[in-house]
Amino acid sequence: MDPKLKKQTMRLLTYGLHVLTAQDGDDVAAATVSWLSQASFEPPLIMVGMKVDSGIHAVVKRTGMFAVSILGEGQKDIAAAFFRPSEVEEGRINGYAFEPGPETGAPLLLDLPAWFEARVTDRIERGDHTVVVAEVINAGVRDDDAKPLELRSTGWSYGG
Ligand SMILES: Cc1cc2nc3c(=O)[nH]c(=O)nc-3n(C[C@H](O)[C@H](O)[C@H](O)COP(=O)(O)O)c2cc1C
Repeated sequence: MDPKLKKQTMRLLTYGLHVLTAQDGDDVAAATVSWLSQASFEPPLIMVGMKVDSGIHAVVKRTGMFAVSILGEGQKDIAAAFFRPSEVEEGRINGYAFEPGPETGAPLLLDLPAWFEARVTDRIERGDHTVVVAEVINAGVRDDDAKPLELRSTGWSYGG
C-alpha cells in the first residue's frame, strides 16, 4: 500500500463534529470528536473512535456511559474549545454551560442544537483509538432548524 494514497483516500471520508462528554463523580471529560456514526437501527447503536490516551477514553471506560452534543453550523469556535483537556469552572466546561444528562449524568452542552445519551455495549481495543459501540438510550433537540457542523467545512482534518 502507498501510504500517501492511503492518507489521501482516508481523508475523503466525511464526518460531522460532536462534543463527547462523560462524568465519573468530580471527574468530567469532554472532547470534540469526528469519528462517530450510527451503526444499527434496532437496537439503536452508534460507534465512535476514542483516542486511547485521552481523558474521555479513561472516564468512559470506567462509567460505560457518555453523552454526545452535536455541533451546529457556525459553532466552529465551540468545537475548538474541546480539543484541549476539559476544565469545569463556575458550572461551565471549557467556558460553556451544561446540564446533566437525565440517564447518564454526563454533561449536555446547552448551546448545541441536539444531543443523545448512550450506554456502552462493546469495545474493540486495537489501534490508537478504541472503537466503542454504544446503545442510544435518550435524545433531545434544542433547535429544530439547526444544520450540523461538518468537518470538511472547517478546514481541519482528522484521519489519514
Ligand atoms: C478535527 C479533530 C477531530 C478529532 N476527532 C477525534 C475523534 O474522532 N476521536 C477522538 O478520540 N479524538 C478526536 N480528536 C481529539 C480530541 O478532540 C482531543 O483528544 C481531546 O479533546 C483532548 O482531550 P485530552 O487532552 O483528554 O486528549 C479530534 C481532534 C481534532 C482536532
